[in-house]
Amino acid sequence: MCGIIGIASNKPVSINIINSLKKLEYRGYDSAGIATLTDNTINEKKCSGRVEELEKILFKTPSNGNIGIGHVRWATHGVPNITNAHPHSSEQVSVVHNGIIENSDEIKKELKAKGIKFKSQTDTEVVTLLITEALKENKPLESVFKTLKKLKGSFALGIIFKNFSNIIIGARRGSPLAVGYSKEENYIGSDSYALKSMTNKISYLEDGELCLLTKDEVSFYDERLKKINKKILTLSENGSSADKGEYKHFMVKEIFEQPDTVKECIEEYVDSSKKNINILNFPIDPQKINKIILIGCGTAYNSCLTAKYWFEELTSIDVEIDIASEFRYRNLKFNAKNLYIFVSQSGETADTAAALDICKKNNIKTCSVVNVIESTIARNSDWVLPIHAGIEIGVASTKAFLGQLTVLYILCLKLAFVRKDIDEKTYVKHVTNLKKLPDAIKKCIKSENNVQLMAKEFISAKGSMFLGRGPSFPIALEGALKLKELSYLHAEGYPAGEMKHGPLALIEEGLPVIVLAPMDKYFEKTISNMQEVIARGGKILFITDNKKESLNENIRFGLRVPHIDNLLSPILLTLPLQMLAYHVALLKNCDVDKPRNLAKSVTVE
Ligand code: G6P
Repeated sequence: MCGIIGIASNKPVSINIINSLKKLEYRGYDSAGIATLTDNTINEKKCSGRVEELEKILFKTPSNGNIGIGHVRWATHGVPNITNAHPHSSEQVSVVHNGIIENSDEIKKELKAKGIKFKSQTDTEVVTLLITEALKENKPLESVFKTLKKLKGSFALGIIFKNFSNIIIGARRGSPLAVGYSKEENYIGSDSYALKSMTNKISYLEDGELCLLTKDEVSFYDERLKKINKKILTLSENGSSADKGEYKHFMVKEIFEQPDTVKECIEEYVDSSKKNINILNFPIDPQKINKIILIGCGTAYNSCLTAKYWFEELTSIDVEIDIASEFRYRNLKFNAKNLYIFVSQSGETADTAAALDICKKNNIKTCSVVNVIESTIARNSDWVLPIHAGIEIGVASTKAFLGQLTVLYILCLKLAFVRKDIDEKTYVKHVTNLKKLPDAIKKCIKSENNVQLMAKEFISAKGSMFLGRGPSFPIALEGALKLKELSYLHAEGYPAGEMKHGPLALIEEGLPVIVLAPMDKYFEKTISNMQEVIARGGKILFITDNKKESLNENIRFGLRVPHIDNLLSPILLTLPLQMLAYHVALLKNCDVDKPRNLAKSVTVE
């Protein structure tokens, strides 16, 4: 999983390639590389680690060339070092690749048997060497086409050619590829965001398609190499900015943006005068929905799990949730009356996109809740509910999580009302409460100083536990996920009532245990589970919205969040947990915006 960029221009391209690679770093930051064509020579520069390093190399020894490709890597085949960094070049061609070539071992064997030598441990190098072989008898486009036929797996490719110095070829199967247009300059890129500073005119390659760019024109071909035309889309303007502003990290900026992003999201969906939710054109008649199935990965999965509690509480519809990488391989019995909802910040997560494709192949109508509305998942869904969070850059998702929760809650209210599962009075009450959410989020953020103190309790901890019941359980999972991602500290999220069936054995003197105990029907039960932890020496960090509960001496640290409505407490409980993970990571000197081994958008299986 990686990010790729290619630019064909009338002027040197390396600076713009570097700028685009910086935007693509959310897809991987194990290594970076660039190849440009100068005087009919492929000029390749690579580094392990960040694009910043590559930029330093180019500063010392600039790369000229009006045509070039670039890459940021998230290692799949071969360790993250310079040799395995892309581009992978031969004498004749240079290739950048996002995806996985599943039959690369087989192809390697065949090529090695012909005496062809490999430099790297990557799957991508087979593409370079197959094209090089094909070029002995074919023109570039035919050579790429013949090579693609031999490949199994997923890819978005960008290719330049030593002897055809004015072209870039792009190809797509599985992994996304956008094409951008400008005056005397054309582009390919893993997403439109990477191209946005250069153009707002975009087309997207579909599976099996290829494109050939020069600085002046772009031609598209289908999977049989027949020339085709493509629609040119104009990208939407997005208010939220892609720089850190006054903040030290994108993550903290994104945490602090949440009162505004949630407010905007609510305003997009809720008609303030009529107190009504503007969600129309359901893909299935709401009265006839048999079951709701929510699918996502990572943080998006945690928002699905939270929403399950809401749908069950407010509607009469049965709800299932699934992790996309599991959903896609299960032997499912599809039902056209089920509402399948795919939740994804990026809209590019390979497993979620594949799960959606399976629904499409089974003639099922699909709905997606996404942040990036130009994304693959949004484009492939029948019905899209955007979360309006603006660009999210921190790898650990924060404002997108709250956006997903807000949209799923809004959808739940609307469905409950149109199906008459709740009456108008209840509906209006919930909509009115929802509007109080942005201010309550603002208040939560004000407790940052207390959260900072709480974070100190984790510095020398061996591990930690996050406990909650009911809709606080998915928030416990999300809190543990954030802490793991950011501070590399082991953290388990658990339903508090399940502790006695095993995890209680982990509790020892001083182990930090975060207890989420909002004033809902689970409160007393959660307190009992907390006592069981206290009795075994756990160090309790207690988060509640209960004004009455006095914090006793057994609780090491207590924090109160505002209370609006029991149903909304999961959203408010999330804030201290996001800030906690952030501050623990700071204290441990971890890279907050780019945690090790991770990527923001996971475009491989
Ligand atoms: C990666 C990110 C997570 C994210 C997950 C799903 O693992 O690091 O933060 O939750 O992908 O991403 P999506 O874009 O589909 O929400």
